[in-house]
Amino acid sequence: MKRIVGIDFGTSNSSVAINHDGQTETILVQGGDTTPSDVHAYFDGKQVEFTAGRGAIESYLSHLPVNPKKEMQVLVPNIKKGIPHETCDGSLLWAETQVDGAWPKAYVSTVDIASRIFIELNQSVIAKTGTPITEAIVGRPVKFGQNISEQELAFERLKSAAKTAGIDRIDFLEEPVAAARGLVDDSDIINNGLVLDIGGGTTDVALISKKSGRVMQVTSSAGREIGGLDVDKSLFERKVVPQLGGKATYDKGSRLPNILLDSLPDVHRLSDFVQPSYIRALNEISRKHDCTDKNGVALLIDTLETGAIPVILKAVEKVKKTLQSTSTATINVDLEKVKLNVQVERHELKTAEHKLRNAVVESIDECLKKADVSEQEVDVVFRVGGAARSNFVSVILDEKFPQAKVVVDEDLTAVTRGLSQSRTTF
Ligand SMILES: Nc1ncnc2c1ncn2[C@@H]1O[C@H](COP(=O)(O)OP(=O)(O)OP(=O)(O)O)[C@@H](O)[C@H]1O
Ligand SMILES: [Mg+2]
Repeated sequence: MKRIVGIDFGTSNSSVAINHDGQTETILVQGGDTTPSDVHAYFDGKQVEFTAGRGAIESYLSHLPVNPKKEMQVLVPNIKKGIPHETCDGSLLWAETQVDGAWPKAYVSTVDIASRIFIELNQSVIAKTGTPITEAIVGRPVKFGQNISEQELAFERLKSAAKTAGIDRIDFLEEPVAAARGLVDDSDIINNGLVLDIGGGTTDVALISKKSGRVMQVTSSAGREIGGLDVDKSLFERKVVPQLGGKATYDKGSRLPNILLDSLPDVHRLSDFVQPSYIRALNEISRKHDCTDKNGVALLIDTLETGAIPVILKAVEKVKKTLQSTSTATINVDLEKVKLNVQVERHELKTAEHKLRNAVVESIDECLKKADVSEQEVDVVFRVGGAARSNFVSVILDEKFPQAKVVVDEDLTAVTRGLSQSRTTF
């Protein structure tokens, strides 16, 4: 019996499917078709404990606030974004005081964090089938990093992460290609199918054709390193940062350091901004007599000290989803030291989506141009990935492809299913 395992290692969500002699099955992971790509690492001064997937954020919250003299923790929700980048090498979890006569330190690398996702997926496969994954086809964005060396680094790190989870061999396949395969039937005739996969971190477009009795062919593809997460970041910058002293001035007009404010939502670089030096500087600023927003700066200090950023980002993401169907929504955070209640209007979401919208249009145009295919010649559009559910995508598709049939990846498993079907279909 031939078994092929497909793994969608997503920026926001991951999943696994198995193809047995042509039959595809999505494996439930922690009770769902997909599980969040969140990893929590907690260091108690002796060892690091990991929680990956659905329980990660709860585990992180349950340890708040940490005692920095004894313990340390980090929540990494989108490690895939850091995978191609040399500067994202990991997070140092450390304790300041002696524990049992030693100065314990624990280094948790990018590969360690990524491996926890593979371990979680592998455990679900073992629980369901009794047999661990040893080989798998893993999805990759069309554009993985800024250049070939970043792409190579990403492949190398994902291979090491998979190996740590006991998966000895992985091969890669472009995610939109896999998605199309997961959504079309052998008998479908498609002259020009456009796959639009907008995930948490990437926007991928591929043009495919498939004639009855012939294998699917990829005509062209295009991609950008931008996704739903960038909308969250933009909302965070516009609506949350001003609450956190972002507009404060001191010393006759100085602003809070850009390097601090800009890196706040980059949770994969979390260790950068828990540095005590930032907190010391902010404490000094809030003591200045001409600091215009002492409360805001104090809230930023509390936010950093209690590690509340990932919780705020989750609240922002929720508002983004709610605003797809309502005209107003509230960013609500109710932690012991950090409380936020910020109303957001639909038009503010539109502004926050602007960059992603442009990237989607550019990627579609680039993909069609490469293939020399016009918008009118597209007969099917595959709408794949969580961020492709956004209203602005419907507007783009109605404008560009009014004649095309639209196929939606309802349960967000098209990529995984397609990956597991790849060798049998080709
Ligand atoms: N209804 C919705 N409206 C708008 N955005 C949504 C909706 N549902 C999910 N999203 C967004 O979709 C993104 C996650 O999509 P998905 O699970 O397809 O990403 P991924 O596969 O993990 O990422 P990538 O493919 O980029 O690596 C998140 O940014 C999430 O906020
Ligand atoms: Mg995806």
